[in-house]
Amino acid sequence: MPETREIKTHGHSVPVRVDPEPEREGRPALWPTVGEYPIYDEFLYSTMTTDHERSERFLAALAELAPGRRVLDIGTGEDLLWARESVKAGAEHAVAVEVIEGAFDKAADTLTALDRRDRITLLRGESTTLRFAPRAEICVAEIIGSMAGAEGAAAVLADARASHLVPRGRVVPHRAVTLAAAVRLADLLPGQPVAFAEASLPYLESVFDWNGGPFDIRLRVENPHTDALLCDGRPVEVLDFNGELRTEQRTTTRLDITRASHVDGVLTWLNLWCLPGEEPLDALRTKTNWASIYFPLFDRPLPVAPGDVLELSVETALSDDGIHPDYHLAGTLHTTDGHQHHGSLASPHHAGPFKAHPAYQALFPTA
Ligand SMILES: C[S@@+](CC[C@H](N)C(=O)[O-])C[C@H]1O[C@@H](n2cnc3c(N)ncnc32)[C@H](O)[C@@H]1O
Repeated sequence: MPETREIKTHGHSVPVRVDPEPEREGRPALWPTVGEYPIYDEFLYSTMTTDHERSERFLAALAELAPGRRVLDIGTGEDLLWARESVKAGAEHAVAVEVIEGAFDKAADTLTALDRRDRITLLRGESTTLRFAPRAEICVAEIIGSMAGAEGAAAVLADARASHLVPRGRVVPHRAVTLAAAVRLADLLPGQPVAFAEASLPYLESVFDWNGGPFDIRLRVENPHTDALLCDGRPVEVLDFNGELRTEQRTTTRLDITRASHVDGVLTWLNLWCLPGEEPLDALRTKTNWASIYFPLFDRPLPVAPGDVLELSVETALSDDGIHPDYHLAGTLHTTDGHQHHGSLASPHHAGPFKAHPAYQALFPTA
């Protein structure tokens, strides 16, 4: 049974629907998204450093690209991770950049204790405002979200290519794509309440505090029940970090429903290539810290049958910080009996409305 808890933000109490059942390995869990906000802590950094699938791919790319080269690690985090690994792989030098003060301080402590510390320069600040020379030959940046571009990878890496990399410099990762499929939220969490995991509440509070109040934060679904997908996944956001990198884009795609059920929104998830030509990391089917993001579209679950089509458009536009994208989704369900149903969702990075959609009204009940 879900319970209602109160979190405090900016002097206000916000009731939140919570699943009191403790999280277990493999059990679905609903969290707010956290990666696109400056609220990282030791726990979040450790979920990334212990992500073997992720590490394997980044390390393979660095083994191929770093030897003898100057590397720039954007968003090095408190562990100075990819800067250290680049030097270990034979990089001539690495510049590591981190914007969060606490993480930078810990990275500075880590650096002091390293043998090869003269081969790493650590800088505090945003890569988009820092300027340094000489230019790097390789840029490694794990600023990829569960919705691939949500952490600002397009704007940050477009700037890195223009300002920090030599003309033929290479970026790791190589490519990120967000896929989407039609779903009903309740089916992603079978036998469980549609409610936030209890452990996620401090993060919800931190993001709301950072934002200056509550808003309809994106919904992160960990270990979603994949049988809930009503169609194949289709790309809705494409980021080619070594090619034509668009900071804003709009895609329209057709989701062909393959079985009878209900739909109320879409689930999105990441496919990531660190090197060209490799099999992508598929976040939906891999044990990784990247989860999937559910976006509500319709006010209530609508019945669907094979042959129905959800026409989905996803627009990515930079928010007023010029880095993090706002997403806007619109869907039209075309049923085989000739009916059409429209639904949409504005999902800004910050400063958006609160409880604008029934899915959020259920998650944040009125006291
Ligand atoms: C997802 S974490 C990755 C941390 C570490 N590199 C790893 O892979 O485990 C992203 C980090 O990048 C930092 N960050 C994001 N954009 C940045 C930017 N433009 N300049 C500097 N740091 C940035 C965040 O503060 C955060 O510490």
